[in-house]
Amino acid sequence: MKRGLTDGDGSGRPTADRVLVTGATGTVGEPLVRELSDGDASVRLATRSPDDARERFGEGPEYVEFDLAHPETWGATLADVDRLFLLYPPGSAVSDVTEFADAADRVGVEHVAFLSILGAEKFPVLPHRRIETHIAGTDLAHTFLRASWFAQNLSEIHRREIVERDEIFVPAGDGVLSFTDARDVAAVAATVLTEPGHRDRAYDLTGPAALDFEEVAEIFSEVLDRPIEYADPSRLTFARQMYRRRFSPGFVAFMVAEYSVVRLGRSGRTTDDVEALLGRPPRTVREFVEDYTDEFRA
Ligand SMILES: NC(=O)c1ccc[n+]([C@@H]2O[C@H](COP(=O)([O-])OP(=O)(O)OC[C@H]3O[C@@H](n4cnc5c(N)ncnc54)[C@H](OP(=O)(O)O)[C@@H]3O)[C@@H](O)[C@H]2O)c1
Repeated sequence: MKRGLTDGDGSGRPTADRVLVTGATGTVGEPLVRELSDGDASVRLATRSPDDARERFGEGPEYVEFDLAHPETWGATLADVDRLFLLYPPGSAVSDVTEFADAADRVGVEHVAFLSILGAEKFPVLPHRRIETHIAGTDLAHTFLRASWFAQNLSEIHRREIVERDEIFVPAGDGVLSFTDARDVAAVAATVLTEPGHRDRAYDLTGPAALDFEEVAEIFSEVLDRPIEYADPSRLTFARQMYRRRFSPGFVAFMVAEYSVVRLGRSGRTTDDVEALLGRPPRTVREFVEDYTDEFRA
């Protein structure tokens, strides 16, 4: 049977599943929507701004106005959905996500793929882990996608310092990270939502290697053909700079905590899960910089 097709009406005739993508305009959601749209699944794209999303994605997907903080939007969002890609939007209430998962369960959604964080299972108080535990207690089949640090943080959060000052400005010391490419996370999400065999599983999604930021700066310098330095500021200097750039205090605190873990050498674990699921190796940081070169030009 083709990807995204099931014998949904019991007639023996394949029918397309409807996959609801939350966070569809985000770093993972956008490539996920594109990936699913290339298959046979019917894609419903959930966003607070459907008109903007329609401009980006065109007429292929179905659009629905969805806000986790507004339960009155949930009914139309979940109607006739078979599978769900769910994320915890930074800054949202954990209870909004868990109550939305309960609503999905009540209306008969079969399977949820939840975007989580590598190592979440070791931190019971982490929002992502609290959501995982809650989902595991529902009747939804689930797949937890525990991803390491996205290479795309370099083009989204840290792009400005790379472009304006030729600097990678993160307080990570000489800690290493098993950078994963968000496009690979999206490809894995599409796989687990459209192919059998991934129910009630957790996958640890990383890139192929653990690199420190000196090595990352060298890759940037080679690919962009200009010297890029690793600044390694103190955590205080980093936090001040991020506040000046108007990131919220909560997000700055989260970043400082994340980089503190990196400094401690706890973020370098690599796994084979991406390759096992996709049948090809995960993208490297070099491939990421090559593909995003235009983003890093002044
Ligand atoms: N960055 C990393 O290195 C990394 C690594 C592992 C896991 N994660 C996890 O990945 C998740 C974020 O995924 P992402 O980076 O793909 O997203 P993102 O780029 O941060 O975008 C956030 C998405 O959430 C949606 N959103 C925000 N507030 C919402 C609300 N109130 N109701 C409904 N939707 C809302 C936005 O949609 P609209 O604006 O269109 O409504 C947007 O599509 C987080 O849980 C993060 O912890 C991140």
